[in-house]
Amino acid sequence: MPELSSQISSAVTKLKAGKIVAFPTETVYGLGADISIPSAVNRIFEIKERPANHPLIIHFSQVSQLEYWAQEIPKAARLLAKHFWPGPLTLILPRTRHVPLNVTGGQDMVGLRIPDHPTALTLLDAMGPERALSAPSANRFGRISPTTAAHVFDELDHKVDMILDGGSCKIGLESTIVSFKDNSAIVLRPGGIPLAKLTEVLDEEVLLSEREQSDIRVSGSLNSHYAPLTLLEVWPDASLWKRSAEIEALGLHPILLGWSAEFLAKGKNKRFMCFPMPNEPTAYGSQLYATLRRFDNGQYDRLLLEAPPNNPDWLAVLDRLQRASYMPFRA
Ligand code: TXA
Ligand code: MG
Repeated sequence: MPELSSQISSAVTKLKAGKIVAFPTETVYGLGADISIPSAVNRIFEIKERPANHPLIIHFSQVSQLEYWAQEIPKAARLLAKHFWPGPLTLILPRTRHVPLNVTGGQDMVGLRIPDHPTALTLLDAMGPERALSAPSANRFGRISPTTAAHVFDELDHKVDMILDGGSCKIGLESTIVSFKDNSAIVLRPGGIPLAKLTEVLDEEVLLSEREQSDIRVSGSLNSHYAPLTLLEVWPDASLWKRSAEIEALGLHPILLGWSAEFLAKGKNKRFMCFPMPNEPTAYGSQLYATLRRFDNGQYDRLLLEAPPNNPDWLAVLDRLQRASYMPFRA
């Protein structure tokens, strides 16, 4: 395998020529395009089969570049940037003229992030100070985000010009997206940074946007996203076994994924295929997508997941499961 530095310079050459390079971040792999090249940005939408009005997050490497890409930056945003970048945090701010409208889906707000991954940071540094990469998760629209280079290859294969391999993503769930109303932060997507940490840094309670709250509470929304091909259902431990029997009675093969001591104890005696998940949200989140991909292989007819605890520490996991699941659930 060529040295990383030669891979980086090859990636930079490709990106500056308008090509698409997938690269690792601490959250998930991103599909990188130089935002100053309209045809490259358009290709991102084509490859992902993503509607053109869905804005892309732009990635860069230095906090000092924030003013180049965003303006009218509230104090709270500066505090969060200073504290959490590089890291799994995306800030939504008014764009400057340096951010083309095709990146933001036509809006005047842009999502910005400095990823915390050595390969990503080296690549972004090597692009130069007034360059940024738009990088949506490197999956087809609505599917599970990739957390290894092999996932990107399986999912997009020949459609991308290069895949930089940086191993497994440490966080495994996408960044926390924060927007601002006046000087107050509102979370649009729960993710790698828990709300409690944002609250701690800002010394003011940070809430989930109302739309997101209702998406999590009201099930069966049309927000199918982060979804495996195999149908996924989420049930509390008490209903999980009954549901497995029902599925089996239909002549189908379920696999059960659970985290609690009760699940693990019961799983030992059952005839169903049972897979243990971590009982702690950070570890669970880091393995979730890879585990769903692993069992989304045609071998099982249904993925039955034990509902995680309904508490704020599990918010990002609950959000992704809600969107990935075929049947509504209440944690
Ligand atoms: O962790 C992450 O954020 C990953 C890695 C690769 O950085 N990226 C990612 O990008 O998840 P994507 O495109 O798969 O999801 C970005 C989300 C979308 O739901 C999009 O609507 C929202 O961010 N977003 C981007 N720009 C926005 C804007 N200006 N206003 C509101 N939402 C925005
Ligand atoms: Mg995505």
